[in-house]
Amino acid sequence: LKIIKMSGIRTFTMLKPDAVEKGHVGAILEQIASAGFRIVAMKLTQMTQTDAETFYAVHKERPFFGELVEYMTRGPIVAAILEKENAVEDFRTLIGATNPEDAAEGTIRKLYAASIGENAVHGSDSDENAQIEGAFHFAGREMF
Ligand code: TYD
Repeated sequence: LKIIKMSGIRTFTMLKPDAVEKGHVGAILEQIASAGFRIVAMKLTQMTQTDAETFYAVHKERPFFGELVEYMTRGPIVAAILEKENAVEDFRTLIGATNPEDAAEGTIRKLYAASIGENAVHGSDSDENAQIEGAFHFAGREMF
């Protein structure tokens, strides 16, 4: 179990400000649970400017970076760590493509995202980033 744990049973997610504002938290969590993910850690929190700039540092030279930081800091988010076999890949499938116009039917972004900029949900894109992003938001004693 220890070895499996180190290779891909956890991912990190955020239900982004637009999803919280529109009241979609309950429906999205239901969809995540129905897909077989167990909640390991979860909280309502708001990112500061520095938090968002750090979290999305990989995009800092991109033209959308300013808008992304403004959007991600404008209200509360739900941050969570999720557990399931093959968590990172399966969660990316569940949320759908970055641009909701390209997202498959039934995916969370297809159902709830307004645009590529305001796309309702985050999912880590690698095991390494899942670990980094989970640790960014949660202390060890907040993970179960
Ligand atoms: P990215 O890591 O490429 O997508 P994903 O969230 O699917 O892993 O981009 C991070 C976020 O940046 C994305 O969720 C929304 C925002 N973004 C834009 O606003 N415009 C863009 O053209 C891209 C690629 C991303």
